[in-house]
Amino acid sequence: MGSAAATPPPGGKPTQDELKRAAAHRAVELVEPGMTLGLGTGSTAAHALDRLGDLLRAGALPGVAGVPTSLKTEAHAARVGIPLLSLGGGPDMKIHLSIDGADEVDPDLNLVKGRGGSLLREKMIEGAGDRFVVIVDESKLVPRLGCTGAIPVEVVPFGARHTLGLIREVFDGLPGFHARLREGSEDAPFVTDNGNYIVEMFFEDGIRGDLRDISDRLLRITGVVEHGMFLRMATTVIVANKDGTVAVIN
Ligand code: 5RP
Repeated sequence: MGSAAATPPPGGKPTQDELKRAAAHRAVELVEPGMTLGLGTGSTAAHALDRLGDLLRAGALPGVAGVPTSLKTEAHAARVGIPLLSLGGGPDMKIHLSIDGADEVDPDLNLVKGRGGSLLREKMIEGAGDRFVVIVDESKLVPRLGCTGAIPVEVVPFGARHTLGLIREVFDGLPGFHARLREGSEDAPFVTDNGNYIVEMFFEDGIRGDLRDISDRLLRITGVVEHGMFLRMATTVIVANKDGTVAVIN
């Protein structure tokens, strides 16, 4: 069974992957027997899957099952022996706790998620649960959303370039704003698990406007399915710091 690398190895700083693992292992300590979990996607969430698999195999978490937020997570969870359920899979189904990484976390615990392309299923599952625990290394903490990269927006493939044009019209004039269709392999658009495309929106030095207003304007565009700003959804953020400490922010 692996152990959390919350402290730097002797003589060295923890790597980013060790920090991700430390945050993930801390989150898994919150899991109790019988819980149904939202299972996140990405390299940080992958550490939580591995840890859960270890504990399940050791018999330490009887009755725990998970709802995967992507096809990749579904395959990983199956491989490590986490029993899987589907969202809405039964009349009494309840997600007690979701554990997932994030691309950015702002001081109000708003998030950017979905640079890995799984934002729609993540938002559906993490929004449906009682508690949403976000696991990050300290590099993900930002003063404003959009500081370190794109805000992903999932759009239907039909008329995707038209929808891109509508998004450009709505946000034209905001400092440094530009948007593009995310590319996949061989010059084709990137395709999500839901068969949709991703528009990437960039803002110079992050979004300085009202996030809720930007969210509403995006969701009013026909052709937009969902976006990667997770506003006021995280109930806990676990941050692994380079100095070896792990902070739990509620
Ligand atoms: C995937 C996500 C991931 O949680 C996010 O991209 C962070 O990934 P990582 O843990 O690999 O840094 O939102 O859609």
